[in-house]
Amino acid sequence: MVDFDTVDYFTDPALVPDPYPYYEHLRAQCPVVREPNYGVLAVTGYEETGQVLRDGESFSSCIAVGGPFPPLPFTPEGDDISEQIERHRTELPMYEHMVTMDPPQHTAARSVLSKLLTPIRLKENEEFMWRLADRQLDEFLADGTCEFVEAYAKPFSLLVIADLLGVPEEDHDECRAVLAGDRPGSQVGALDHESVGTNPLEWLDEKFSSYITDRRANPRDDVLTQLAQAKYPDGSTPEVIDVVRSATFVFGAGQETTAKLLAASIRVLGENPELQRTLREDRSLLPVFVEEALRLHAPVKSMFRLARKSTVVGDVPVPAGSIVMLCPGAANRAPERFENPYEFRLDRANYREHIAFGRGAHTCPGGPLARVEGRVSLDRILDRMLDIEIDVDKHGPADERQYNFEPTFILRGLSDLHVRFTPNP
Ligand code: HEM
Repeated sequence: MVDFDTVDYFTDPALVPDPYPYYEHLRAQCPVVREPNYGVLAVTGYEETGQVLRDGESFSSCIAVGGPFPPLPFTPEGDDISEQIERHRTELPMYEHMVTMDPPQHTAARSVLSKLLTPIRLKENEEFMWRLADRQLDEFLADGTCEFVEAYAKPFSLLVIADLLGVPEEDHDECRAVLAGDRPGSQVGALDHESVGTNPLEWLDEKFSSYITDRRANPRDDVLTQLAQAKYPDGSTPEVIDVVRSATFVFGAGQETTAKLLAASIRVLGENPELQRTLREDRSLLPVFVEEALRLHAPVKSMFRLARKSTVVGDVPVPAGSIVMLCPGAANRAPERFENPYEFRLDRANYREHIAFGRGAHTCPGGPLARVEGRVSLDRILDRMLDIEIDVDKHGPADERQYNFEPTFILRGLSDLHVRFTPNP
């Protein structure tokens, strides 16, 4: 039996399968509670979560991914630690990626990304998705059974990003082989949290450096050239490495998260034959289904901010130097915002108000893309995989299901999902 008053949220495997009772335990005390092991302020309230994420003046993103790991390389002093943060920024994990940046660097890094996520590019990317979904399903459809995470969710979400970034199709197999493999360091935020300090994107950095350098020297009519020629808002040209990091971070941020959304969605369908039937008959419900899947199975489990100035969240004083943890899975189940928050409902009026994509300046720029990935995949899956059921040999009977989740405090998602279905070629 886990003692929620003392449990270590960051390292105790007991919380991995189901963190929600722990969030409710925190919520019952206050929407903002200091957990005892690292002194992290855990926020479970809906309004309070939005408040912290929107307030870039009081909160820095410099520890957005690792939170309390590794410990801060300095001792916070006074009511404004902005200057200390800047002095030590490059000692913090992932400092070179936009998710940990603050303005003005963050604004510049996002402007490069916006060259990539244009409406035209997203439309072309969607056309690729429809082809890719069928190609991916063809690999295992005839078997009538699959382990969905490896067979579909991971390769699909990986190759969508590869296409978005304009990686030439002849390089897709190499990308898939390297990134889908269990590379050391790919589990950012694993419970042993050894890997938080490593850079899982090194291979991609090298690959993209060669693309961008080549396209600057030999421009072509392709996405990589557009990226290579992107300018900062002030008209200056970014260093190659800065363009590369904006692009490659997208792999890290956009692949595993979307794979987790896809797997969670298939689990919901497998567990709810009635819901599955409703969706098969009325595909216009797919967008709401995807939002409910995001709300109840938010792939980002924890994100962090460092209070740069002493402030107040809700009624709770937050001294400068406090590490604040936001848990979309908790905010998305806040009863003050969502009626019967634990129910998956296709008739929920405020279904788009979840915080699965964050809020404020760092709001996920890939949200629209992830939603389309969900809709396209589910549409083709419902067409081609009939009567989707959870494989009882692997996960147990309906009243005693066993699922494995990835052991990380940063992301939440199934590590495997075995399903059976009737192929509809
Ligand atoms: C279901 C899928 C996804 C979820 C749940 C998700 C969630 C999030 C969240 C919560 C953040 C904010 C982190 C913070 O504020 O600290 C974020 C940031 C980010 N996401 Fe996503 N994401 C998803 C898919 C994608 C995709 C497909 C892309 C690629 C196009 C992407 C690219 C990014 C980038 C580049 C950032 C950093 C933005 C910044 O720091 O300004 N994400 N994502």
